[in-house]
Amino acid sequence: MKISVIILAAGQGSRMHSTLPKVLHTIGGRPMLEYVIRAALEAITAQSELTTVSSSVNVVTGYGAEQVQKAFNHYDVNWVIQNELLGTGHAVKQALPLCADADVILVLYGDVPLINSQTLQRLMKISAGEHLALLTTELDNATGYGRIIRNKNNEITAITEERDATEAQRQIGEINTGLMAIPGKYSQKWINTLNNENQQQEYYLTDIVVQAVADNIQVVSIHPENQTEVQGVNSRQQQAKLEREFQRMQAEHLMQRGVTLLDYKRIDIRGNLVTGRDITIDINCIFSGDVILGNNVSVGAGSVICNTHIDDGTIIEPYSVITDSKIGKNCRIGPFARIRPGTEAANFVKIGNFVETKKANIGEKTKIGHLSYVGDANIGTEVNIGAGTITCNYDGANKHETTIEDHVFIGSNTALIAPVKVGAYASTGAGSAITDNVENKQLAVARSRQQNITGWSRPEKKE
Ligand code: UD1
Ligand code: CA
Repeated sequence: MKISVIILAAGQGSRMHSTLPKVLHTIGGRPMLEYVIRAALEAITAQSELTTVSSSVNVVTGYGAEQVQKAFNHYDVNWVIQNELLGTGHAVKQALPLCADADVILVLYGDVPLINSQTLQRLMKISAGEHLALLTTELDNATGYGRIIRNKNNEITAITEERDATEAQRQIGEINTGLMAIPGKYSQKWINTLNNENQQQEYYLTDIVVQAVADNIQVVSIHPENQTEVQGVNSRQQQAKLEREFQRMQAEHLMQRGVTLLDYKRIDIRGNLVTGRDITIDINCIFSGDVILGNNVSVGAGSVICNTHIDDGTIIEPYSVITDSKIGKNCRIGPFARIRPGTEAANFVKIGNFVETKKANIGEKTKIGHLSYVGDANIGTEVNIGAGTITCNYDGANKHETTIEDHVFIGSNTALIAPVKVGAYASTGAGSAITDNVENKQLAVARSRQQNITGWSRPEKKE
């Protein structure tokens, strides 16, 4: 079966009060349209196991078209421009030329992000390229939605928009989600003959229902698994509400996979979180991009972790911020650690409070306990870096590297003025500014000697 998906995404979303096109607003850190495109591609892939005919995803854009296309240029989709927003029927019409030989045309909305690909498969299955299949649902409050009109045999005969509905029709609780599967062979005829004789003077896609009935084509329907799937986003409030529902769903998934969440309502995943066994995550953590947590990892409260792999047994203490890094097994990071891009910590590394690292290879069992900056550095195994150590990596124009070999002891408050190298088993005296390389096993002391002045009197204040 050849499937042509048409995703309607031309609206500005005026109720968002934003210059950003609506479908680029995010849920779970990703643009809404991304979820829809992925669900469509997934549904197509699931079907195409049965056939080899190529299917397509076509996105109708209008407001901010260029911006939307740019955001998705890595996806295999076709773009169609709708210059004037004259209604959902008009929008679908713009994409029809690209769907010429489709068996089924699947219409989706770019602002209904959490639609499940399995629901889409069910919808296409009941259409089977023969029937007009609608995704409908029952709402306690149906205000604003198109109502599903059924005859006394319970057959669907029409969809009536709220504004065009009679008082009696407005009492109907079954609504049109807007998503539907149209038999390709009737699509041209139905959509090209739509008119705009209604309250909004728009070409309503929903009017094809009446045409199907007139043509003796059966109109069938299914419900989604849950309401969240068909929730649209038109305002910041709806976006916020859907975001919470989405996060709750993700938290459920994590718990199903055996993760302990100390409060499942206080975790945010904005990307993809892969988890091992026996992980504990304390409250208010944010995971973004691709994060992998190994077995027995624990993440302390308020930590923010982005695009990072944390290996088995590692403990992230509270309020640590870790980005684009790799942390080995059985490490202890934080509290209040800032692990910046390009940090690679081997196993059993300890990075304590108020330590910032960047582009740093840190060898096994090395400790950077307190208040340090370690950037552009290669550090060996079992190194001890004293409190307040700074790698002075920047001369105002260029970055330089610091190399610290195995078993080095860096005294507290050492400034390592890069490029510089400290050889294995060497030490530096506390408070040293190290400008020259230190050979293996040497002690480098680079600070002025203390003078004790006897009989010195402190200036006194005049009364
Ligand atoms: C539509 C349905 C209504 C349904 C509701 C569900 C019609 C006539 N009505 O109403 O039955 O209950 O969705 O949310 O179809 N769009 C375009 N180009 C246009 C018009 C719309 O791309 O010219 C896009 C919008 O950006 C949006 C989607 O289509 O993503 C739906 O449009 P919207 O104006 O929100 O439709 P509703 O009036 O809510
Ligand atoms: Ca809408």
